[in-house]
Amino acid sequence: MILHEDLDRILITAEDIKKRVAELGRAITEEYRDAPEPVVLVCILKGSVVFFSDLMRQIDHDCRLDFMIVKSYGGGTESSGNVRFVKDLDNSITGKHVVIVEDIIDSGLTLTFLKGNLITRGAKTLKICTLLDKPVRRSPKSTITVDYCGFTIPNEFVVGYGLDYDEKYRNLPDIGVLKPEVYTKA
Ligand code: IMP
Ligand code: MG
Repeated sequence: MILHEDLDRILITAEDIKKRVAELGRAITEEYRDAPEPVVLVCILKGSVVFFSDLMRQIDHDCRLDFMIVKSYGGGTESSGNVRFVKDLDNSITGKHVVIVEDIIDSGLTLTFLKGNLITRGAKTLKICTLLDKPVRRSPKSTITVDYCGFTIPNEFVVGYGLDYDEKYRNLPDIGVLKPEVYTKA
C-alpha cells in the first residue's frame, strides 16, 4: 500500500489486530451474557470507526450503535480535558449498558470528561474499550480505568486502522509509526 512508504515501521499488523479484536469481542460477549438488555456501543468519531465496525461484529449480543464527535479545546498535540460536543448521541442512554469504544487513550482527559458526562445521564453500567493505550502518557488528572484494551503501546505517535496524522492514514490496514520526515515536512 502506498501509505506504507511513510512508515518508519509497522507496530501492529492487520492480522494481529484482527485476532485481538476477536478476543475483545468474546470478552465483551461474556461480560453481558446474562444481561437481558441490549448493549449500547458508543463510537467516538472519527478515529474509532474502523475498530468499532470490526469489534461490533465480534460481539454476540443484542447491540445498538450510537456515535459522538468530541473536540478537545486548546489545540496542539496535548489534550486539555475541556471537551466540546460536536455531535452528541442520538438516543438516550438512561438505564442502558454502555460501552465507549475509543481508538487510543493518551492523557485520558477526553475520556475522563466523557465518562463523567455519560454517568450523569444515568447509564446503568459504563465500560471503556480502547484499541490502544499509552499508559505512560496518562495525566494525573485522569480518573478513568480501562475495562478492555487491545494493545498497550510505547509513547510513539501511531497511525492507521482509523488513527490519523492530520486526517491522513486512517485507511491504512496496519498500525504503524511514521517516519520523522513526515512531521518535519509539514
Ligand atoms: P487524550 O486521551 O484525551 O489525550 O486524547 C486521546 C485522543 O488523542 C485520541 O482519541 C486520538 O484522537 C488522539 N491521539 C493520541 N495519541 C495518538 C496517536 O498516537 N496517533 C493518533 N492520534 C492520537
Ligand atoms: Mg480520537
